[in-house]
Amino acid sequence: MTEIAIVGGGLMGHGIALVLALHGHAVRITDTLPETRARIPALMGSALATLQEAGAAPAGWDADRLRTAVRVEAELEPALAGAGLVIEAITENPEAKRALFSELDRLCAADTILASNTSYLDVFPLIPEARQARALILHWYTPPYIVDLVDVVPGPGTDPAVVSAMAELVRGLGQVPIVLKRFIPGYIANRIQQAISAEVFQLLDEGVAAPKDIDDAIIHGLSLRIPILGHLAKADFTGLELTQRALANASYAPPPPRTRSETLDALCAEGRTGVMAGKGYFDWGGRPPEDLFRERDRKLLALKAAMAGIGRMEGT
Ligand SMILES: NC(=O)c1ccc[n+]([C@@H]2O[C@H](COP(=O)([O-])OP(=O)(O)OC[C@H]3O[C@@H](n4cnc5c(N)ncnc54)[C@H](O)[C@@H]3O)[C@@H](O)[C@H]2O)c1
Repeated sequence: MTEIAIVGGGLMGHGIALVLALHGHAVRITDTLPETRARIPALMGSALATLQEAGAAPAGWDADRLRTAVRVEAELEPALAGAGLVIEAITENPEAKRALFSELDRLCAADTILASNTSYLDVFPLIPEARQARALILHWYTPPYIVDLVDVVPGPGTDPAVVSAMAELVRGLGQVPIVLKRFIPGYIANRIQQAISAEVFQLLDEGVAAPKDIDDAIIHGLSLRIPILGHLAKADFTGLELTQRALANASYAPPPPRTRSETLDALCAEGRTGVMAGKGYFDWGGRPPEDLFRERDRKLLALKAAMAGIGRMEGT
């Protein structure tokens, strides 16, 4: 068991706290906003209930035990006291992160490991020099208690023993660490997702297909093979010479980088901003967001259970 402090108790912080607590770590979590701190126990409780309904939580947990395992602290200093690992999960703003790392440098013991959950920022220049050997990125996906991938990213000065220890900690959570050799914005999964997004924006803006047809192509075409084959094992099944010819075929050009999408802007201008607004690309039929999140999580957990039963191709 490690004593772990999480700084930032928003969408990611409370979810990461839950995963760590369910796997035996003593967690303290802090956030500058009182209303965010007040929400943490109930949010973790409802996520725990979702996991329990799906049979995906360890036995013996309830809201009371969670309250003891995850201490919510109003101030930074008591949250950090005695922590061997600090996970920074505050707003994605370099200056806010720089200020926090300077505070962490002042308050943490010399051997404390500092981890950032940043999505895109190269945080290493924001971390004091003396902390570089014990600093790294640990990047969870949302919701972190369901999606198992965790990117483990060393900075230029990170001690390889710290990287191995953190990959081991992630494995101990029943999750899947991938260790990158160096920082690259968006890591792997988010970069691939950006490439998909660029293509989808182009298809929508050029009126090639409707949102439902695009999602049908992804769900029924792309997705079925990915859980078993990923992308590169799928290429082996296609045959690499065909893959080589497809690459050389100049009839397909990836969309140029873009900073906006007309169809996206039109939806946002109408207030169709997604599930929280009841409408986005799809009309969510007046269902409350909690209900929609619960259905999503239940289905993701069922898919995960099926994937665990089926497994990926042997040897990959
Ligand atoms: N949302 C995602 O899907 C996602 C996925 C992976 C990684 N991330 C990354 O995780 C981090 C947190 O993202 P989020 O979505 O949870 O954001 P969020 O806005 O939900 O939560 C951030 C919290 O940090 C708090 N905060 C800000 N400054 C603080 C400080 N100095 N000390 C303590 N608390 C402070 C805010 O009050 C807020 O509650 C970001 O770096 C983000 O890029 C987000």
